[in-house]
Amino acid sequence: MSKLVSPEELLRQTEYMKKCEDILKKTFVNRQPICYVHSYGCQGNVADGEKIKGMLAEMGYGLSNSAEGADVVIFNTCAIRENAQDRVYGNLGMLIHYKKKNPAMIIGLCGCMVQQDHVARRLKEVFPGVNLVFGTHVIHQLPEFMYNILSNSSKIYNITESNGVIAEGLPIVRESNFKASVPISYGCNNFCTYCIVPYVKGRERSRSFDSIYSEVKELVSNGYKEIMLLGQNVNSYGSDLDSGVNFSYLLSKINEIDADFRIRFMTSHPKDATKELIDTIARCDKVCKHLHLPVQCGSNKILKAMNRKYTVSQYLKIIDYAKNKIPNISFTSDIIVGFPGETYSDFKETLKLVEQVKYSSLFMFIFSPRRGTKAELMSDSIPKEEKSRWLSELINCQNEISAKVHESYVGRTERVLFDGVGRTNDNMLTGRTDTNLVVDCEKFNLKIGEFADIKITKAHRMALVGELV
Ligand code: 5AD
Ligand code: SF4
Repeated sequence: MSKLVSPEELLRQTEYMKKCEDILKKTFVNRQPICYVHSYGCQGNVADGEKIKGMLAEMGYGLSNSAEGADVVIFNTCAIRENAQDRVYGNLGMLIHYKKKNPAMIIGLCGCMVQQDHVARRLKEVFPGVNLVFGTHVIHQLPEFMYNILSNSSKIYNITESNGVIAEGLPIVRESNFKASVPISYGCNNFCTYCIVPYVKGRERSRSFDSIYSEVKELVSNGYKEIMLLGQNVNSYGSDLDSGVNFSYLLSKINEIDADFRIRFMTSHPKDATKELIDTIARCDKVCKHLHLPVQCGSNKILKAMNRKYTVSQYLKIIDYAKNKIPNISFTSDIIVGFPGETYSDFKETLKLVEQVKYSSLFMFIFSPRRGTKAELMSDSIPKEEKSRWLSELINCQNEISAKVHESYVGRTERVLFDGVGRTNDNMLTGRTDTNLVVDCEKFNLKIGEFADIKITKAHRMALVGELV
């Protein structure tokens, strides 16, 4: 059962924001203090980063999109693979360099990477320039931490685990004014043997139906066009609540909100992807016809070692059910190559599965041992170079499939939400179909943040080209 951070505690933090504002007004007489918040990793982290920005903005900080010259820099870190952590250490080196020019700069690190004891310890020992280290369970206490730093220059290291609390009602500065992420649950109970998430984010806890529903309602009444419902496993939403709600019910109710918007969600764990879920996607007109269903591997032996709790045939069954129910549905997935004990013949089974499903795109990773997970201790005899060759083989295989999936769209008319300027050409806008494929289109008569019906005229391997109907 999730516990809410008490209203008294939230009020106490609001008071700290006010106290910080008072100090900052006295310290920065001629200019507004500036902060820079950077979130690494998943969309859940980006959503946390929006709350961190929200709290700093309440204290009076202006938001910058560069660390250079900022008075406060917060890195909201990721621990999912070693390279995510290496990137943080690399960028921290650059921050320390900025701090030499501006010794008053406050450097804070939070998120999954610092929730690990060994990382928090290393930061304390090796990076004395870091003022603030706070874990994933105490984000709502940022105002108090900032007050202590601003008022008596203390250093703070707080990675306390809360046994699962949810802080509702924190201020949020959103990255976009037409696409919003709405967390529906935090943490994870699945303990896939390779994964650090359950250790750094804690046990799964669902937000109440009412909090999610009213947040979405407010967003769409403010003109938001795309709502992304987020959880490590959205399919188990509600299993810890006594209200009897599940994810399909949540989707159906949000779908009933009267406004022009689309609903996305991630991530669905295949073991909990039910026919009810597929039927709900099929029935709800606002729910996008795209399913991100991470399979991780196509070998039953490795799936078992990963503790994924489904077999290849169970996975394919739900995929087939979805293909039959929703003819134009697109699938994406995550795949780990080179899990301990995986042989080339196991890997070939992954290739076979990928060819069978025909994903529109894939996120592919080489296994990265994470400290404290079961897989870290499993014997792993395949050299890195060999795993890289397997990865290239998978990428090549998927490239061909992606190209074919994209080609199949030529001639179709798709509703596209435009979300940015073209990556290579300023005269183009780029957006996504309901099925989550990228579409580039001439800017003329189109607007970022709006839907348009686009006739697909050409397909590249990873993107479509179209024109306004
Ligand atoms: N090594 C490689 N990839 C990983 N993922 C999670 N943990 C690891 C790891 N230790 C991948 C999985 C997951 C995605 C978010 O990251 O594919 O679905
Ligand atoms: Fe990690 Fe598995 Fe939980 Fe996903 S479901 S966050 S891979 S433990």
